[in-house]
Amino acid sequence: MRITVLGCGYVGLVTGACLAEIGHSVVCTDNDESKIDILHQGALPIYEPHLQEIVVHNVAAKRLSFTADLPEAVRFGDVIFICIGTPPLHNGDSDLSGIDGAARLIAQESRSSKLVIEKSTVPVQSGQKLSRALGIYGRNSQWSFSVASNPEFLREGSAVLDFLHPDRIVIGVGDQGSQLLLREIYRPILRQELLRCPVHDDDCPQKNPPELLVTSINSAELIKHASNSFLALKISYANLIADICESMGANVEEVVRGMGLDPRIGPAFLKAGIGFGGFCLPKDVQAFIRLGEKVGVDVSLLKDAEHINRRRIEGFLAKAAHALWTFKDKHIGILGLAFKPNTDDIRFAPAMELISRLLEERAHVSVYDPQAMDKTRALFPSIRYCADPYQLADGAEALMLATEWAEFKELDWARISRLMQRPLVLDGRNLLDRSEMERVGFEYHGVGVLSTAEAEARCAAMPLSPGAR
Ligand code: UDX
Repeated sequence: MRITVLGCGYVGLVTGACLAEIGHSVVCTDNDESKIDILHQGALPIYEPHLQEIVVHNVAAKRLSFTADLPEAVRFGDVIFICIGTPPLHNGDSDLSGIDGAARLIAQESRSSKLVIEKSTVPVQSGQKLSRALGIYGRNSQWSFSVASNPEFLREGSAVLDFLHPDRIVIGVGDQGSQLLLREIYRPILRQELLRCPVHDDDCPQKNPPELLVTSINSAELIKHASNSFLALKISYANLIADICESMGANVEEVVRGMGLDPRIGPAFLKAGIGFGGFCLPKDVQAFIRLGEKVGVDVSLLKDAEHINRRRIEGFLAKAAHALWTFKDKHIGILGLAFKPNTDDIRFAPAMELISRLLEERAHVSVYDPQAMDKTRALFPSIRYCADPYQLADGAEALMLATEWAEFKELDWARISRLMQRPLVLDGRNLLDRSEMERVGFEYHGVGVLSTAEAEARCAAMPLSPGAR
């Protein structure tokens, strides 16, 4: 099928490349010509595992191309995926001006009828507004425009895997024709009949084929916001539990394991830490709160989840202050900058707030991340960027782990404890093992996991209940 993708950001690039990968002819375009230039040079404007290989492979196979000529791109596809960013406005609403602009472009430049598919994350009823806009901008056009919604659930760092092996594909349609076209587009994935799989070297693990859920356009749009907000709720709930564990001397890792064994709860997204970041969860929760308020629904549950998330850094810094007393002139290393591992994305990353706060406290901040240092340098040019975690540890009085890159677990921590001025680690992602860290001489502080000394002190301080005397 001939497919056009508007927008070459995370969603657009992964969608375009993977649709070409499953056999479609795809043209991707973006109004940021610098992105198209980078792509024409065979590079990518983002870091995403497996994506470079897929782009190169499908460009060579002449199934994928990039152009800055927006009208030419619009005319190419019978189907157009809108993958344009919907960043938050100052009041938390989603900025839909890019979608509106796309409607004008499509209506005015098309030379044939189109199926226009929303893949950007948009508030419910945006499809109706898109349809109306296409009708208004295309009132003199002889072509017809159907609209559908096809929300993405791609996670940064595993987006290619999530596209080729999804748990579900949701399509919101208003007519049979649109449904048939979308079924045809996704047929290789629905049947898991991939030409090849760069993620699993063509040896994909057995997995049930994804479910295709066909709904109304409104429901499909709502599924995205509702899903991301529920994930945020789960994370904030785990962080609430972590705070109780710290006060009561329990271990959040044990508690969430116990919870997650119940299939009604499930183990996923119960990892306590310094909070959720990234360009999706924070903004989608905000947009969903705004949406609920507009229709008079009590969204305090979501507001509480957001509030709990915002306070994570506060609690983490309070723990650090307890250990360090003051931050001024202290040499503090931050291990991990990206909002999560396997990405170079620092948008709404907790580490960014950590850096800002420590700089306010006039600490000497050094950082290391395998992928996200270039993007961080643009925000914080004056801090110290280290070549590796050992350089980061050298002379540091504390290390704060902010991103759970797997490679940090494999570090020679005994060597790090010798390099540091004081072997103090504050693990904001509970990546490391407390007893192992204490065995090699660290003062170790996790989230919702007390250090052995703290746990013993808490127990000793706990007044015995009258009956126990
Ligand atoms: C998210 C959704 O998962 C994805 O389905 C949607 O399409 C886009 O938004 P992403 O933003 O890539 O994906 O990140 P995700 O893996 O969801 O993590 C979001 C944040 O939550 C990260 O900062 C991560 O560190 C944090 N997190 C995640 C936790 O703190 N605890 C957890 O248990 C899981």
